[in-house]
Amino acid sequence: MASPNTALTSQTHPGSLPPNVFTLPRTAQLEALYTIIRDKDTNRGDFIFYTDRIIRLLVEEGLNHLPVVTKNVETPTGAHYEGVGFEGRICGVSILRAGEAMEAGLREVCRSVRIGKILIQRDEDTAEAKLFYSKLPEDISSRYVLLLDPMLATGGSAIKAVEVLTQHGVPEDRIIFINLIACPEGIHSLCGRYPALRMITGWIDQGLNEKAYIIPGLGDFGERRYTC
Ligand code: URA
Repeated sequence: MASPNTALTSQTHPGSLPPNVFTLPRTAQLEALYTIIRDKDTNRGDFIFYTDRIIRLLVEEGLNHLPVVTKNVETPTGAHYEGVGFEGRICGVSILRAGEAMEAGLREVCRSVRIGKILIQRDEDTAEAKLFYSKLPEDISSRYVLLLDPMLATGGSAIKAVEVLTQHGVPEDRIIFINLIACPEGIHSLCGRYPALRMITGWIDQGLNEKAYIIPGLGDFGERRYTC
């Protein structure tokens, strides 16, 4: 039996990760969550429940990368407490359609957070990621952006989404990419292109198959989340 909080051997060791990639602590509890969502026999209700649990952990970890400022408060005892307060405004941007599933997790943690959307699809002629639609908060250039996409495969969509954000004036170092499962190919494409962005992922898998699915992965995230 694996003891809680020991590093588990079945996860690919991150090895030489770029310095802007952060992973969740590899506990037995986290691996149990991932085991459930990877299982092809997990039903849709459980898939939603357990992916939501991981998304919440990821969002909390993403918020750890935001700045704080000194803040002093008085407690009901009349004592003073020297603490910190949140600094800087945030918004979420989901990469449709799978990223939309992460919006609720962000809203649970950040009340009335503004959320934009970006739709990117493969151009059938050129095989390149192409922007189809975007709706972003008008003041996005002055906010930290939590960019949401659960699966980082080749990295094409995430790279295009970051390009859209920077074109809207968001500095690269204010983008925090939040992701459930990544693979080395996607990590090196995205973080190589944008070294100042921060990426938070829950798990790094082995790689891609010939259809650009992550292996072992969990299959098609959107299909498992939205299709009965
Ligand atoms: N998107 C998915 O939903 N699954 C993968 O394995 C890769 C991209």
